[in-house]
This record gives sequence, C-alpha cells and structure tokens, in this order.
Amino acid sequence: MLNIRIEKATTLKEKPDPNQLGFGNIFTDHMFIMDYEEGKGWIDPRIVPYQDVVLAPSAMVFHYGQEMFEGLKAYRTKSDEILLFRPEMNIKRTNTTNQRICIPQVNEADVLQAIKAIVEVDKDWVPSLPGTSLYIRPFIIATDPFLGVRPANMYKLMIILSPVGAYYKEGMNPVKIWVETEYVRAVKGGVGFAKTGANYAASLKAQMKAKEKGYTQVLWLDGVERKYIEEVGTMNVFFKIDGEIITPSLEGSILPGVTRDSVIQLLKDWNMKVSERKLSIDDLYLAHEEGRLEEVFGTGTAAVISPVGLLDWDGRQLTVNNGEIGPVARKLYDTITGVQCGTIEDTYNWTVK
Ligand code: COI
Repeated sequence: MLNIRIEKATTLKEKPDPNQLGFGNIFTDHMFIMDYEEGKGWIDPRIVPYQDVVLAPSAMVFHYGQEMFEGLKAYRTKSDEILLFRPEMNIKRTNTTNQRICIPQVNEADVLQAIKAIVEVDKDWVPSLPGTSLYIRPFIIATDPFLGVRPANMYKLMIILSPVGAYYKEGMNPVKIWVETEYVRAVKGGVGFAKTGANYAASLKAQMKAKEKGYTQVLWLDGVERKYIEEVGTMNVFFKIDGEIITPSLEGSILPGVTRDSVIQLLKDWNMKVSERKLSIDDLYLAHEEGRLEEVFGTGTAAVISPVGLLDWDGRQLTVNNGEIGPVARKLYDTITGVQCGTIEDTYNWTVK
C-alpha cells in the first residue's frame, strides 16, 4: 500500500466546455509521480499540481527511448459515481511492457491505488456528456543522466489526466483507411505487443502518407510477407466475413488491447462466431469482391469502436457496408459505452468504482 503525499494546487484551472472536447489537449490540475532508484525500488509516491518535469538533457529516455505508457478512462455515471474500465488489464500490461523493455516491475495494487487517488483528487474533471470521459495516461520514463546503452537505474512513473471527447474527428462515423504495403508497424520478436512509444514513432511515416492521400489511418500488414493483416492505425482490427468475425491472433507483433478482449468476450456471449486467426489481405479482397465482407472496425480505448467505411489497397477501393456504420460495430459501441457509463448492467465486473 502506498503512502501518497498530496500537495494541492493553490489555483485551479477553468474546466473546458464539455461540448468542445477533442482528444488529449487539456490537462487537469494535478498529476501523480513516483520515482524508482536501483536498490530502493519505487519511492516517494506523490500527487502534485500538474507541472513541467525537469530532467537532465542526458536523461536516458531522450536518447534510447526506454519508456512505456498506458491509456484507460474514467466515466461519470448518471448517479455521479466514477467508474474505471478494466484498469487491472492496463496495469498487468504495464508489467508485460516493462518486462520487454527492461523497466522494473510495478506493484499492481499500488498502481491501481495511485490511479484511484489521482482520479479522486481531480474528480471534478470527469465529464458526463455521452461520448466524453477522463482519459488516464500512466507512463514511465528512464531518467539516469547517462549516455551508455543499458537499462536505466532510475525511472519516473507519472499519471496525467485529460478530459476527452471523440478520438477521431469523424467520431463513430466510418473512416477511410489506406492499406500500407511499404512501411510496417512491428515484427514478431520486436516490441509490437508492448505499449512503448517506439511503436508509435515507427507508425508516423505511414500515417502521414495516408493523410496526404486523404485517408484517416492505415491498415498495417505483417513485417515479413506484407500479407497478413495486423492492426488499423493505433487500434486492433475486426472483420465480419460470411457471418464470422475475425481478428488477427496475438503472435507477438500485435498489441493485446483491452477493448479487443472485451469485444471478443461480448461476441462470444452473443453466440457469434468469433475467430482469432491470420487473415491475408488477398482473402479480404476476395471476400469483398464476392460480396462476403460485411463489416470492418477498429477497437481501442481512445475511440472504443471505429467503423471502417473504405479501404484502399494499391488503388483497389473496397467499400464496406456502403460506407455506413454496421450493426455489429453499433451494438458493440452501445454495449461497451453503456457498461462504461453505468447505463447497462456490468455482468462481467469490468468496472471499478
Ligand atoms: C487507443 O486506441 O486507445 C490507443 O492506443 C491510441 C492512443 C495511443 C491515443
């Protein structure tokens, strides 16, 4: 159990207009920080006013990118309770990521306590309009002032909070996707399954290429054969073909998403055929040509469910469900956001007060 010191901000910021919330551009009054020192472990847990972080220019994170992050959300219910959605999954994944990039393990109960404590301090920032929430961003950086390449001996774990609306300006409206055949996001044996900034840095070039061509995001293919579908933008991806719902299996290059896991559980309980398996871009194209491709959607914490209305594969345009939101994507979005906001009974015990 952490003994968290709390230093409250003396002046509080003005709250944003809940109708105008975008994603990740507004931050609350406070933040959580905890340090790690070799031999001492995680020390000095504290909540302080949201502020800049002072680091040596030689801090290792600036040079070799040893950092990890997580993303989860807090929701305000109609009866003014605040719910977290499956936080223990994000905290478990923190340790999976840490293990891969040689950051020391965290105590999972302590991190949950820290998340609850910082959300409690800034609870007035949790918005209540449908589609809005408080995005919680825990992250860890390597702070040793040292230029040799090795795992750091000093770290900071921080948690910042941001009231958010829709991730994509399209909201739940279907997005246009560019199938990327040149750049790849991750490879098996690399860090694709870990939530580390490196994966996102590696993704930017293709994202910009897609944007220039008028697409919102990219569909990633595998790094070896450029054949099998992996993810869509920063999200896991699902396809409905001939009634079967397919999502790529977790074989090392794909992030094990919390929303992905929730979607699989829901679909199984709705008695739909759901498969975690490889799907090639050729088979996807064939399914489209034969009129068997029913729906495509991405899943992630930020956007929850993001339907895909069009895919461009080397000039071949695959329109999905007439560019409209499909019934499975709609039902999943309504169910998951309903559970998150407390309007649908949480039979899975996914939410934590
Ligand atoms: C998510 O879909 O939640 C993500 O991981 C995107 C995030 C990096 C903004």
